Amino acid sequence: MRIKEKIKKLVESQLPEISGAEISSTENPTLGHYSTNVAMRLAKEQGKNPQEVGRELVASLEIAAPKGFFSKIEVAGPGFVNFYLSPKTLQAELKNIYKEKNKYGKLSSGKGKKVIVEYSQPNIAKKMHVGHLRSTIIGDALANILEECGYKVIRWNYLGDWGTQFGKLIYAYKTWGNKSAVKKNPIEELLRLYVYFHDRVKTDALLDDKGREEFNKLERGDKENRALWKWFREESLKEFKKVYKLLGIDFDVWVGESAYEQQMAPIISEMKKKGIATLSEGALVVDLAEQGLPVALVAKSDGASLYLTRDLASVRDRNKKYKPEQIIYVVANEQTLHFEQMFAVAKKMGIDGAELRHAKFGLVLGEDRKKLSTREGRAIQLSELIAKILVLAEDAITKKNMNLSAVKRKKIAKAIGIGALKYNDLKENRNSDIVFDWNRMLDFSGNSAPYLQYTRARLSRIIKKGGKISNVDFTMLDKDLELNLIKKLLDFPEEIKKSAETLYTNNLAGYLFSLAVLANKFYETTHILKEENKKKKQAYLALITSISSVIKKGLGLLGIESPEEI
Ligand code: ARG
Repeated sequence: MRIKEKIKKLVESQLPEISGAEISSTENPTLGHYSTNVAMRLAKEQGKNPQEVGRELVASLEIAAPKGFFSKIEVAGPGFVNFYLSPKTLQAELKNIYKEKNKYGKLSSGKGKKVIVEYSQPNIAKKMHVGHLRSTIIGDALANILEECGYKVIRWNYLGDWGTQFGKLIYAYKTWGNKSAVKKNPIEELLRLYVYFHDRVKTDALLDDKGREEFNKLERGDKENRALWKWFREESLKEFKKVYKLLGIDFDVWVGESAYEQQMAPIISEMKKKGIATLSEGALVVDLAEQGLPVALVAKSDGASLYLTRDLASVRDRNKKYKPEQIIYVVANEQTLHFEQMFAVAKKMGIDGAELRHAKFGLVLGEDRKKLSTREGRAIQLSELIAKILVLAEDAITKKNMNLSAVKRKKIAKAIGIGALKYNDLKENRNSDIVFDWNRMLDFSGNSAPYLQYTRARLSRIIKKGGKISNVDFTMLDKDLELNLIKKLLDFPEEIKKSAETLYTNNLAGYLFSLAVLANKFYETTHILKEENKKKKQAYLALITSISSVIKKGLGLLGIESPEEI
């Protein structure tokens, strides 16, 4: 049982009248390691003085708690009860953590349950942009975290591979395109054709009809158009996969909007039959006034299906095929209304099953807090962005360690650069916009991935030099800093759980950073390898082994590699 559970059980055993006591971990160990507000809650219910109730609880806990478990329990402020673990308890807990090795942190809250995490979702024949990058990074981290909690996670890439724009693209390709140009530079060329089409529409309004015609043909399964669409899709996927490979990210399911085309007609007639959707100026709409939302459009006047309707079909399909407990959509803030409407219509239709959650995020901004752009002022491409961070990372490493071979340097640069990119995103509250400050992202002494990676690599080196660890006497660790480090390690599973529940990663990133700060303090003030007392040295090595393993696992959950040397 984890320590917090133990304290919770103990408190509850003294208060049978209360249903569940909340125990929280405290930030500042000089105010206790854990704290509960249960006395305040109880006092309120019973019309008593909270400090009085607190004092009574402390008195009975002092008798009930195993001898030497706490070093102090006290009532503080308006009636909080604060718990101080004794060094003996902390040392015993570290012993367990140390024994668990890299399993430490694994939870079972999601055991036996499935969850679909949908992320990345780029659009075929278009460039993947920084918004898709955020979705990819955040989604992957959330999927890792949920997996650590025991969930069976289905990583879903819902490709934007359907819609009237494909009719326009097909027309443009047939009229102005050629095979070898697409082959050579698929997305670039398809995008050029699409933009060209739109330029021409300005002077030739008939083109729109032509595009629609091609799309209708595609919908009806016309062989030539189907083949073209399929080819565009494949070529685009090849490009996307290059980015995923660099990021070290993958998916279980690559099913996009096109997969639901066949289900549009039945879903639309179902909505009509159930009286959910009504005709308005030829289009089919769902009134959501009761839900406090604007009217949702579910089919256009020409009968063409829509983004929202395809999403509804996909929810139903996912529920049926996977029976997930949750479906999580990692999509930008800009689509908040879309998801609110989609969830509301799904509810109205009685599509039940998974809880639907929108994990939204803000924009990516340049250092000047404006749109991210190149030096020439043009919007930066994702591939340029990744290439730039890799070059900068290599420069930064060269400054730190001149002795690396070129191959090693490249490998480490990739871990550091991609890590910096991911951490810069995951350390922030995802709702806010993130700023691309290249120097700060790669600052080995700031709140950055390289700082965490470097800390871990240093620990790793000491551990290797320290030799075999055996017969550890954990009571050797009795200084404040050492005990604080143990308490920090105890918080790890908690932070993972919190991230999984809230779908935020910033708490976990912040946790790793503060652990690394403490760890740095520790090895800067302790001569681990030079320690002459053998027992002490072994205990130090065991402590940093657990710290190193937690940092490695924590970074891993954020999708970030931990190189052994930097
Ligand atoms: N492909 C869309 C875009 O780039 C995002 C898809 C989001 N997911 C969804 N189920 N609607 O804007």
